[in-house]
Amino acid sequence: MVSSKGGVGKTTVATNLAVALAQAVPYSTVIVDLDLQFGDVATTLNLSPEHFMAEALQSVASGDTIALKTRLTLHETGLYVLPAPAHPAEADGITSAQISQLLKVLTQEFPYVVVDTSPGLSDHTLGALDHTTDPLLLTGLSVTGVSGMRKVVDTLSVLQMFTDRYHVVVNWADATDGVSLADVEQTLGTPVGTAIPRSKSAPGSANVGVPLMQSHVRDPLVKSLASLVNTLLPEGVKLDPRGRLRVKKRGKA
Ligand SMILES: Nc1ncnc2c1ncn2[C@@H]1O[C@H](COP(=O)(O)OP(=O)(O)O)[C@@H](O)[C@H]1O
Ligand SMILES: [Mg+2]
Repeated sequence: MVSSKGGVGKTTVATNLAVALAQAVPYSTVIVDLDLQFGDVATTLNLSPEHFMAEALQSVASGDTIALKTRLTLHETGLYVLPAPAHPAEADGITSAQISQLLKVLTQEFPYVVVDTSPGLSDHTLGALDHTTDPLLLTGLSVTGVSGMRKVVDTLSVLQMFTDRYHVVVNWADATDGVSLADVEQTLGTPVGTAIPRSKSAPGSANVGVPLMQSHVRDPLVKSLASLVNTLLPEGVKLDPRGRLRVKKRGKA
C-alpha cells in the first residue's frame, strides 16, 4: 500500500482489506503497520496491543518464528496485527534490512501479509516493496495527488521495481474536482484497477474501531473492496458486495 501523500486512505484500505481476507480464510492474514512513527492500524482496529514492532524484530533476528507469532496481536476477526512502535522515536532505530527480513519470515508463515505504510517512498517502504507480490498504489483525484503518484511511478521505474504487478487504486473516485479516472490513467500510464467512491460511513468506522468490512454494511467502499479482495481469494471463496463470505458448494452453479 503506497501513496505519495497522507490522508488518502491507505490505513482505511489496508485495514479493511486485511479484515476481509482474515474473515474469508481463517488465520491467513497478518497486517503490518509500517507507518513506523505515527501508525494507527491498532487504533483503527480498536486494539490495545501488548507487543510492538521492536519485540517482533527481536524474534526475527533470533530466528524464532514461534516467538514472532506470540508477538502478534489477534483481532476478533482472526486477523493478526503487528502494530507500529509504541513511540515515534523508536522508528529511527529500525533499518530497512530488518523490515525486509521481517516480511520474508511473515510471508513464509501467512498466505496474506498486508502492509500499511507512511506517505512516500521511505527506505522501509522500498524494503517492503521488494517482498510485495501485489503492491497497491493509492491516490485521490487531485492534481497534486496524481502528480505525486507519477513521481512514485518514475522513482520505482528508475529502481527497476515498477512492473505490471502494481495495481492503481483511486480513492474518493467520485469526487469531481476536475481530475477524472482517465486523467489518472493518462498521467500514470497504467490502468486504474480499483475505484473506491466516497463512503459516508468510513470516518465513523475508523473512530469506533470497527472496519466496514467487518460490519458488512451496504456501502460503496465495502462493495469496491470486496471485488478487489475477490481477485486475491482462492477459487470458490468469494465475498458478496457487503463483504460477507460466499463459499460455493461443489456441484452447484
Ligand atoms: N473512500 C472514503 N470515503 C470517505 N472517507 C474516507 C475514504 N477513505 C478514507 N476515508 C477517511 O479519510 C481519513 C484518512 O484516511 P486514512 O486511511 O487514515 O489515510 P492515510 O492512512 O492514507 O493517511 C480517515 O478519516 C478515513 O476514514
Ligand atoms: Mg495511515
